[in-house]
Amino acid sequence: MRKMASSLLSELTRILLCAFVLSVHSPFEKKVHVHGAQITVPVGYLSPSANCTASTTNVNSTLELVHKYGARSQLFDSGPINHTRVLLEDMARVKWIQSKISNSISGTSDLEESALNLTASFGPDRSGYVVTIGLGTPTKNLTLLFDTGSALTWTQCEPCIVSCYSQAEPIFDPSQSSSYANISCSAPSCINLPSGTDQQPGCSDSTCVYTVSYGDLSSSSGFFATETLTLTPTDVITNFEFGCGEDNEGTFNGSAGLLGLARDPVSFLEQSASQYGQYFSYCLPPLSSCTGYLTFGRGMDTSPSLNFTPMLTVGQNSLFYGINITGISVAGNPLSIPSTVFSNSGTILDSGTTLTYLPPLDTCYDFSGVSTITVPVITFSFSGPINVDLDASGMFYWVNASQVCLAFVPNIADTNVSFYGNIQQRTFEVVYDVPGGQIGFGAQGCS
Ligand SMILES: *[C@@H]1O[C@H](CO)[C@@H](O)[C@H](O)[C@H]1NC(C)=O
Ligand SMILES: *[C@@H]1O[C@H](CO)[C@@H](O)[C@H](O)[C@H]1NC(C)=O
Ligand SMILES: *[C@@H]1O[C@H](CO)[C@@H](O)[C@H](O)[C@H]1NC(C)=O
Ligand SMILES: *[C@@H]1O[C@H](CO)[C@@H](O)[C@H](O)[C@H]1NC(C)=O
Ligand SMILES: *[C@@H]1O[C@H](CO)[C@@H](O)[C@H](O)[C@H]1NC(C)=O
Ligand SMILES: *[C@@H]1O[C@H](CO)[C@@H](O)[C@H](O)[C@H]1NC(C)=O
Ligand SMILES: *[C@@H]1O[C@H](CO)[C@@H](O)[C@H](O)[C@H]1NC(C)=O
Ligand SMILES: *[C@@H]1O[C@H](CO)[C@@H](O)[C@H](O)[C@H]1NC(C)=O
Ligand SMILES: *[C@@H]1O[C@H](CO)[C@@H](O)[C@H](O)[C@H]1NC(C)=O
Ligand SMILES: *[C@@H]1O[C@H](CO)[C@@H](O)[C@H](O)[C@H]1NC(C)=O
Repeated sequence: MRKMASSLLSELTRILLCAFVLSVHSPFEKKVHVHGAQITVPVGYLSPSANCTASTTNVNSTLELVHKYGARSQLFDSGPINHTRVLLEDMARVKWIQSKISNSISGTSDLEESALNLTASFGPDRSGYVVTIGLGTPTKNLTLLFDTGSALTWTQCEPCIVSCYSQAEPIFDPSQSSSYANISCSAPSCINLPSGTDQQPGCSDSTCVYTVSYGDLSSSSGFFATETLTLTPTDVITNFEFGCGEDNEGTFNGSAGLLGLARDPVSFLEQSASQYGQYFSYCLPPLSSCTGYLTFGRGMDTSPSLNFTPMLTVGQNSLFYGINITGISVAGNPLSIPSTVFSNSGTILDSGTTLTYLPPLDTCYDFSGVSTITVPVITFSFSGPINVDLDASGMFYWVNASQVCLAFVPNIADTNVSFYGNIQQRTFEVVYDVPGGQIGFGAQGCS
C-alpha cells in the first residue's frame, strides 16, 4: 500500500514541481488568436478565478452544466480548491476503472485496495461537473454529478437509515412523492442490475436493494425504485429506475448523487432511449466559472464542425466509452510515440477524470506577471482519421499563476488503459452517438 501511495505521490510531485519558461506577449492582445501551430491567449483565460462572460440559453432537453468547484455552483462553495486532493482522487478513479477493465470481476484487487485506502485517508470530496434535475411529484431539484463512467443514477433518500453525507439541497424523501414506487426483487430490471453495478442486488421485504461502489471507498446502497424524472418542463421521464440511497458514503459531498450515462440498460442513456435515441452531447466550459451544457437527443448540436471517431469497447467492460488515439502532435510535429502505445491498451473518454493519462508530457510554467501567452497547439489524432486541436483551456491544470501545468499524467505502464480527461474536452461539443457507434468532437461548442 505504502509503495503504491508513494509512487502516486511521486507522480504528483512530477506534475507539481516543475518549472519552464514560455514565450510571453505584450498585454495588448485581448482575444484568443490561433495562427498556424501556435495559440495565443490572455493568461486570465486559463485562470479559474476569471469571471465568466459567456451565457447559455436554456432549450428543451438541455441542462446547464457547471463545474462543482466553479463560481456558478453556489451549492458547493467550500473555499479554495485543494489541488492535491483533486489529483489524488483523479488517480484513484483512473486506477479503479483500469482495474475494472483489466479484470472485470467485482471485489478488490491490490490496486483497487490501495486506491481505496489512498482516497479514504485523504478525505471526502470529488471533482467533476454537476447538473440539476427534478425528481418526484411534486418535483424536487437535485444536483447530481454527471458521469459517463458509471451507469446507475442514484440520490440520497430519507430515511438515511445507515448514513447520508451532507448535501446542499434537502435530501429526497420518497414518502413525500406520489410517483415513487419500489421495484420488486423478481423484476427483470432488478435481476439485471449487476451488469450496471457490478454487484448482486439484495432483497428486503420483496423490495430490490441495490449497492454500487466506486474505487475510492465511496458507495451508495438502498432501494431500487422508479420515479418521475424531470429534466426540463417539457422533458419528463416517467417510471425512471434509480437508486434511492439510504446508506451513502464517500466523496460526493455537496451533490445529491450521480447521473449515470454509461452504456448499460439501467443507465439514463438507455432508459430515455425512446425520447432521445441514445444520443447525447455535452460541452465543458473553458473556465470553471462558466456554464456548459448537457443535452439529449439529435439535432441539438451547437458546434459548426463535428468530426467523428469510432466508439469502441476497451477490454471486457462495455460500460465505458472507448476511443482510439492514433497520435499526438505538438505544433504540428508528431510526438515519437508509437501508435501501438495507445491502441494496445485502449483509451477511455471520461467525464469524471480530470487529467489525461498518457506517456509523459508533464511540465509546468510560471505565468506570474504575464498577461498573454503563446503555446504550441497540441493535436490529438483519433481513428477516423480526425484531428482535435485542444483549446488553450484544455492544455493546462491551473494551480496558481506561478504554477500552471500541462494537464497530462504518465501512466504507470504502456499496458495500462489511457484516459482522455475532462480538461482536454473543454470548449468542445462532445457527442455520444451510441446507435451510430461514434463519438464526435466539435470545436467551439461553448465558451
Ligand atoms: C470578477 O468579478 C468580481 C465582482 O465583479 C471582481 O471583484 C473580481 O475582481 C473579478 N475577477 C477578475 C479576475 O476579474
Ligand atoms: C420545446 O418543446 C415544446 C413542446 O414540445 C415545443 O412547443 C417548443 O417548440 C420546444 N422548444 C424548442 C426551442 O425546441
Ligand atoms: C498497469 O500496468 C502495470 C504493468 O504492466 C501492471 O502491473 C498494473 O496492474 C496495471 N494497472 C492496472 C490498474 O491495470
Ligand atoms: C489500508 O492501509 C493499511 C496500512 O496502510 C493496511 O493495514 C490496510 O490493510 C489497508 N486496507 C485495505 C482495505 O487495503
Ligand atoms: C489537501 O489535501 C491533502 C490530501 O487530501 C491533505 O493532505 C492536505 O492536508 C489538504 N490541504 C489543505 C490545505 O486542506
Ligand atoms: C429548480 O431548477 C430549475 C432549473 O435550474 C429552476 O428554474 C427552478 O427555479 C428550481 N426550483 C426550485 C424550487 O429551486
Ligand atoms: C418501499 O420498500 C420499503 C421496504 O420494503 C418500505 O419500507 C417502503 O414503505 C416502500 N415504499 C413504498 C412507497 O412502497
Ligand atoms: C461538505 O459539504 C458541506 C456543505 O455543503 C460543507 O459545509 C462541508 O465543509 C463539506 N465537507 C467537506 C469535507 O468538503
Ligand atoms: C487504432 O488505431 C491503430 C492505428 O491506426 C490501428 O492499427 C488499430 O487497428 C486501431 N484499433 C481499433 C480498435 O480500431
Ligand atoms: C503556487 O502553488 C505552489 C504549490 O502549491 C506553491 O508552492 C507556491 O508557493 C504557490 N505560489 C503562489 C504565488 O501562490
